[in-house]
Amino acid sequence: MEPVIQVSELVKRYRKAERNAVDGVSFAVEPGSFFALLGPNGAGKTTTISVLTTTLRPTSGQLRVAGHDLLREPDAVRRQLGIIFQKPSLDLNLTAEENVRLHAVLYGLYPMRPAYRLMPAGYRAQVQHLAEVLGIAGEMSQPVRTFSGGMRRKLEIVRSLIHEPRVLFLDEPTTGLDPASRRDLWAYLKAVRQRGGTTVFLTTHYIEEAEAADRICVIHRGRVVSLGSTDEVKADLVEDYVSIDAEDGAALAAELEGLGARFAPDPELGGFRVAVKGAGIHPLLAAVRTPLTRVRTHTPTLEEAYLEILERS
Ligand SMILES: Nc1ncnc2c1ncn2[C@@H]1O[C@H](COP(=O)(O)OP(=O)(O)OP(=O)(O)O)[C@@H](O)[C@H]1O
Ligand SMILES: [Mg+2]
Repeated sequence: MEPVIQVSELVKRYRKAERNAVDGVSFAVEPGSFFALLGPNGAGKTTTISVLTTTLRPTSGQLRVAGHDLLREPDAVRRQLGIIFQKPSLDLNLTAEENVRLHAVLYGLYPMRPAYRLMPAGYRAQVQHLAEVLGIAGEMSQPVRTFSGGMRRKLEIVRSLIHEPRVLFLDEPTTGLDPASRRDLWAYLKAVRQRGGTTVFLTTHYIEEAEAADRICVIHRGRVVSLGSTDEVKADLVEDYVSIDAEDGAALAAELEGLGARFAPDPELGGFRVAVKGAGIHPLLAAVRTPLTRVRTHTPTLEEAYLEILERS
């Protein structure tokens, strides 16, 4: 199956910038999957998403989205996308429903009618359904000006889904959402993917959100640092280790040295952290003669992996 998003050697340099905001990024996204672009502030997430949603021209690179060449057929690509921007993008003077209607009409889904009740039944059913899911059905006729930040976010989500996009881009969508709304949004996005085969492309710097993704691309300073499943990214960035200790620390260190182990002092527990590689730790531990007082295995969390990237720079 052809990937729904294919990015090869994407470079974006802003005018007068000293370095590339995106510096040779490549990845592919499978149709219907949940893909997370994870990185700290300034990593290049919004820049990447802006290029993929045709709002920003790349400096160089090849891009295909939803079966079309992004540079040659931007209109065809645009029709297949939904996007939630990092920055709020609602018209505060319109009601919630009017914001959605404007979007639906601009996408050519429905003819413009001067009132909600005059809109086609299909439109009304879709608005009602999405607004209920996001929990703002009762407020759809209110001006957006009166909405809280979280409600505005939910409205943007309703709006982005109204044309049933093949790919939904979300740039840090849960910023400003309370935990319950955040959970509801995840549940809904999951349902959207399963039911409609919609691909979800998310940027975030929340580890827990990336952890739920099928694949994660970690970027830092415009470059891909790691790419793969959660487990692959973890293994890529942080080594598993075993924390061991003995009454006679010096003897243990000498022995580990002699066995050719890679080890370092354990800053938290004392003793040593011994890297687990290839064949595993058992042959090494079996060879140690110094009596051990502690053997504790450690599997890294995605958060540790991520923090390591930040520390490395
Ligand atoms: N319009 C612009 N002009 C010049 N430089 C820009 C512009 N927009 C972003 N940049 C720079 O490009 C780099 C990547 O920015 P980008 O907004 O893509 O990061 P991000 O990963 O989305 O960060 P955040 O998590 O803070 O949203 C940063 O160094 C930023 O300063
Ligand atoms: Mg951003």
